[in-house]
Amino acid sequence: MPHTLDPDAPIGVFDSGLGGLTVAAAIDAHLPDERLIYFGDTARVPYGTRSPATVVRYAVSIADFLRKQGVKLIVVACNTVSAHAIGELAEGETVPVVGVIGPGARAALDASKGGAVAVLATPVTVASNAYRRAIERRAPGRAVHQIACPLLVPLAEEGWFDHPVTHMVAREYLAPLVDTGVDTIILGCTHYPLLRGAIRAAVDDLIGPHVALVDSARATADDVARVLDRHGLRRAGARAAPRMFLTDHPRRASAVAQRFWGGERLPPMTHVDLREGS
Ligand code: DGL
Repeated sequence: MPHTLDPDAPIGVFDSGLGGLTVAAAIDAHLPDERLIYFGDTARVPYGTRSPATVVRYAVSIADFLRKQGVKLIVVACNTVSAHAIGELAEGETVPVVGVIGPGARAALDASKGGAVAVLATPVTVASNAYRRAIERRAPGRAVHQIACPLLVPLAEEGWFDHPVTHMVAREYLAPLVDTGVDTIILGCTHYPLLRGAIRAAVDDLIGPHVALVDSARATADDVARVLDRHGLRRAGARAAPRMFLTDHPRRASAVAQRFWGGERLPPMTHVDLREGS
């Protein structure tokens, strides 16, 4: 199937909202010749507290939209969707699909010195045990601690990166990890890298500076490069500006989107009315 795809076609990256821009930015930095389409389901975010069936339904409708845009590869830049829908998406897809759980687990095991691994994620990602399974597959018997952190997404969206409330919430979530032998913590949600400073401070204070904090963004960009190479789908051409599609009105998104995208100028945003099943 991938041999019918066009190397010049864009890569489609999607998330429940804007957090996946942290992954899109890593892909853009690592593979600057590729064309990127970012899709953020800003009208229906957050996914992290919804039922798995709803998450799968939303994800299938977005993959359908991206396929109609002619993408050559789909990146599921959302831990919650990767945890629950990657099987369905890969099955129904005519293009390769890359998720963020495998790359995140790999990055954690690369960073770990053999200690326990902790996963901070949305409640739905934790309930799926997807990170636990991905780690156990690569390192059988390794202790894995999972902590659901539902308050971190709104704090990141609010831009409260260094706010006292964020520091307090981070300490509360991390307290159960004291004396567990954890040496690596996965930021298992696309929003959490923005709160790295507050999480780092709480980890240093409660557990120690030896604990590594990892996220999936760079490791996912590596996977994307590998999959493109495997299918002969690398693009060689002049740099093309990324494009963004959002399901809520873009006006509401730009300040938050800029935080996730980083220093570069934000791609142009287009509103799309996604009708499921259309
Ligand atoms: N993007 C989601 C994730 O990585 C978090 C936001 C949400 O709950 O939709 O899990």
